[in-house]
Amino acid sequence: MSGYSATSADAAVLHRRERHRLLRMRHERRRADYLAGRRAAKAAVTQLCGMADPTTIWVEPGALHQPVLGGPGTDGVAVSLAHSQHLGAAVAFDVAHPVGIDLERVDPARAGILQSTLTPGEREITAGLPLAALTAATAVWTAKEALAKFLRVGLSIDLSLLEVASWRIEGEWWRLEYRHVVSLKALVLVVDDWVLALCLPARSTVSTPELSHSLAAALLDDISRALPPGAAVRVPAVDRPTERKWP
Ligand SMILES: CC(C)(COP(=O)(O)OP(=O)(O)OC[C@H]1O[C@@H](n2cnc3c(N)ncnc32)[C@H](O)[C@@H]1OP(=O)(O)O)[C@@H](O)C(=O)NCCC(=O)NCCS
Repeated sequence: MSGYSATSADAAVLHRRERHRLLRMRHERRRADYLAGRRAAKAAVTQLCGMADPTTIWVEPGALHQPVLGGPGTDGVAVSLAHSQHLGAAVAFDVAHPVGIDLERVDPARAGILQSTLTPGEREITAGLPLAALTAATAVWTAKEALAKFLRVGLSIDLSLLEVASWRIEGEWWRLEYRHVVSLKALVLVVDDWVLALCLPARSTVSTPELSHSLAAALLDDISRALPPGAAVRVPAVDRPTERKWP
């Protein structure tokens, strides 16, 4: 899993099909997000599949706009990706073990809309999470989007079905649990004012204890490249609080 800022060099990883799609995109912001997402996806897939050349594989939109991976050596592998303000994040996985991902920046301009999406139970949860209120609301939102991607339905689903019901600590992650999909969980990481969420089977464990650290390092590196020189980046310490549930 990796994240990248969009520079012109990013296009070098694209497959011919992806270049054609990029050329049809009219807006610079969309092009930058597309590149950031494709770079992250290719970094994840080439690492998982042990490939050297990212240009031999492609990620194209499926019927639900979900990313569909193709190319030699990718059988049985899938990818989920996200981009936010030109940073990308992706996870590649065996199709037998699906994962969804979301990445969001903690953005005060979205505070009102985020608050409006919270259910009463989620408001309790964000109040109990030892994070700043907006960061906590963003964490809940990323968990929901990661679930929407896991299910391949995007935000076409009734949002109440994505509701977060409880949280607790799991290793270095915030673990958020879903009210209506108890077989899945979200693992959430906060790095500076960025929030990354993975949605995965509830009983799955993250086998590499250092994964959250390496993810944080990848995000920090990427964020640092996107920031003006000298700007500081911090990873908030994870407290060791008790779990919080909404009945
Ligand atoms: C999927 C969705 C939740 C993404 O949210 P977002 O905050 O806008 O964007 P993110 O950066 O988090 O994620 C974007 C990526 O999600 C993936 N994605 C899109 N739809 C998806 C779906 N149904 N299932 C899984 N992943 C999906 C794509 O890879 C997309 O990146 P890409 O378009 O560059 O390939 C949201 O866009 C949505 O609900 N889409 C529904 C599908 C739709 O109607 N899209 C209209 C596009 S014209």
